[in-house]
Amino acid sequence: MPTAGKTYHVTTFGCQMNEHDSERMKGMLESLGYTEVEERSLADVILFNTCSIRESADNRFIAHLGEAKRLKSEDPTKVVGVGGCWAQSVKEEVFERFPFVDVAFGPGQIPKLAEFLTSDSITAQGFFEFETVSGRLPMKREREFQAWVQISQGCNCVCSYCIVPSTRGREVSRPAAELVAEIERLAADGVKEVTLLGQNVNSYGRDLPKGERTTFSELLALIDAIDGIERIRYTSPHPKDMREDVIRAHAELPSLCEHIHLPLQSGSSRILKAMRRTYNRERYLERVATIRELVPDCALTTDIIVGFPGETEADFEQTLEVVDQVGYDSAFTFIFSPRRGTEAAGLPDQVPHRVKVERMERLVELVQRRAHERSQRFVGRTMEVLVEGPSRTDPSKLRGRIRHNKTVNFDGVAQPGELAQVEIGSATSTTLAGEELLLSRLG
Ligand code: SAH
Ligand code: SF4
Ligand code: F3S
Repeated sequence: MPTAGKTYHVTTFGCQMNEHDSERMKGMLESLGYTEVEERSLADVILFNTCSIRESADNRFIAHLGEAKRLKSEDPTKVVGVGGCWAQSVKEEVFERFPFVDVAFGPGQIPKLAEFLTSDSITAQGFFEFETVSGRLPMKREREFQAWVQISQGCNCVCSYCIVPSTRGREVSRPAAELVAEIERLAADGVKEVTLLGQNVNSYGRDLPKGERTTFSELLALIDAIDGIERIRYTSPHPKDMREDVIRAHAELPSLCEHIHLPLQSGSSRILKAMRRTYNRERYLERVATIRELVPDCALTTDIIVGFPGETEADFEQTLEVVDQVGYDSAFTFIFSPRRGTEAAGLPDQVPHRVKVERMERLVELVQRRAHERSQRFVGRTMEVLVEGPSRTDPSKLRGRIRHNKTVNFDGVAQPGELAQVEIGSATSTTLAGEELLLSRLG
């Protein structure tokens, strides 16, 4: 099929890894001569990059698919493609449930989309082997000054609630030299902030051949040395593998931001065991203590699941205790959702929905109260802000983020991509407000 002059539209669901995979999908399509259009109805190729982490993610995507079905029935020459984790988790069933879909592929099979589009095949095809790391494909970057870099694909953990190991396969790390070369190119192209992506970044490099083996903290040091990269972030570390060398790097490497996202999941050791997280409450709190000792001002954020099978009121209260004790700067909170093929979906003692909702409300209230208290420490301080653009709530103001990853809305004159010095005047649980110090601009 000729592809030049054709158009595409991609809708992305799920995590940053998926956002980044979509950048690669777009890069690949553009290298074939496709151009992106804003509206799905105008596209020759309609793509969905799906997520399956919770049932709500599945439902959101299926609601969108209805429109693709209608567009395809009006114009059968359109191609409908479904990629990503949901596609991988149901495989060929995609075509049984949605016969209008032309091509389906898992996260490890993005290049097959190009093969499909350039072949003469008119029959529906699915591609679900774990073959490639999307990080090697051409990329169409969404943001000028910030970039995601996939350091590894897949996950070797066996968290009993999680579908990701079955949708992204075993862990495969990209060699450090390849990553450094990619980030050098990004820096030359004006990127100031990189976010390193992996399901468990701390186990980065363990699968590389002997001569190329690099630890995560060594990788951080190599990236810190690249000229032009002002900020390094990463997600996610795993508490079981988060060692002192990485924590120390936050104190020692100038570009590594003062923010660690350390997923807790539960504050009850009994539930953590059933989740197969392989750390307990004490071990988690020890990690937090090391962070507080070595990087006192570090922002800490987390992920928490409520209503895991068998979670009692006493277990849940232990989660509340840890949240209170740690004082997170923010937390993503999730209601446990049974996922096909996972161990936890088949466990007895599933928690009733109304209990999950009630626990969620209590948790969110505490998370917000502690986050509000924590963010007051920024008031009165002058913070470095990477400017992202106009404020979303008030276009006369600017918006950016501090190194601790909090959003700031402020009065000032700085341009997107610049680092501004902003004096913080007030703080809520989620955002800061302030004014740019213009004196520093004159100097
Ligand atoms: N690899 C990362 C991210 C995993 S997905 C990590 O381990 O931190 C992001 C979050 O989704 C998880 O941390 C977990 O809190 C949540 N999650 C995963 N599976 C879930 C499920 N079945 N139900 C509810 N939340 C889930
Ligand atoms: Fe899922 Fe656990 Fe792997 Fe994270 S570490 S992706 S929660 S299996
Ligand atoms: Fe991400 Fe969703 Fe897959 S959270 S790894 S896109 S299941």
